[in-house]
Amino acid sequence: MRHFLKETDLSAAEISAVFAQAAALKAARGRATASDLARQSWGLMFFKKSTRTRVSFQVGVHELGGLPVMLNADDLQLSRGETVADTAKVLSRYLHGMVIRCHEHALLEEFARCGTMPVVNALSDFLHPCQFMTDMFTLAERYAPGRPEQYAASLKGRKIAFLGDTACNMANSFVLGGAALGAEIALAGPAGYEPGAEVRAQLKADGLKETFTFTTDAAAAVKGADMVYTDVWVSMGMEAEKAERLKLMQPYQVNAKLMALAKPSAYFMHCLPAHPGEEVSADVLASPQSIIFDQAENRLHVQKAILAHLAAHRG
Ligand code: CP
Ligand code: NVA
Repeated sequence: MRHFLKETDLSAAEISAVFAQAAALKAARGRATASDLARQSWGLMFFKKSTRTRVSFQVGVHELGGLPVMLNADDLQLSRGETVADTAKVLSRYLHGMVIRCHEHALLEEFARCGTMPVVNALSDFLHPCQFMTDMFTLAERYAPGRPEQYAASLKGRKIAFLGDTACNMANSFVLGGAALGAEIALAGPAGYEPGAEVRAQLKADGLKETFTFTTDAAAAVKGADMVYTDVWVSMGMEAEKAERLKLMQPYQVNAKLMALAKPSAYFMHCLPAHPGEEVSADVLASPQSIIFDQAENRLHVQKAILAHLAAHRG
């Protein structure tokens, strides 16, 4: 059984294949009679809020010929004490695959272990691999236009600056996925927000060399970058730390002055939702360098390719 819980659940060759399939699906959207999930039903279970992920997966399953079954975790017996193991076993009797957004990454792993269907991580406290894959696809469309077979290779050696909450799920995804793709990940955030033991252990377990650096100096990280990325300073579940984080992360706001230190050709990216005036200034968000809405659109195409890939490779 194949799952997509983290960036390294796909090999380098599979990442290339997914990028190529996403490009083909994107080009054929609305025209092709895609049927990769024909007569299948996929569960979409959310323990946290979502706009992009919820809609792009629901539309994506539908466009692949499947039935998306929306499951609000609060409405399930899970919220009244039924175990994750029993939930995974029962839902595996009805569904052909599962997309889950949750807090503890361990829940995804337990679900994947106990169920008998593919599981996709739609964001956990640890990683956001569907977003990372989409972001890399979005960049590669620009680096190797019209050559999807070159997408993965076009990312090798690129300098990506990640500013702000350098210990969050998105930052971890860049640390792990960046190493898998051979990109240089320059993180800049407050002291104490360096990538934690969990993501370092994952790199080691995957036999990957670290390709990230961490500094508290925003300018040093952005200097010469090919792309500058940021995420919210207060991730879902971190609301109690809001006041402290907003103060601590102030020096890491991506603004025009900071963007001027990156390569003139540099792109600005953000997984969204954004908080203009906090992690990024309103002018950078709306600048020609900003490709945030292409990222959002590409969630649909890349996730469809991931779902089709898992459906084709299930045991
Ligand atoms: N970027 C992202 O995952 O957005 P949502 O939280 O709206 O799904
Ligand atoms: N780091 C953010 C990402 C939102 C898409 C969060 O977890 O809230």
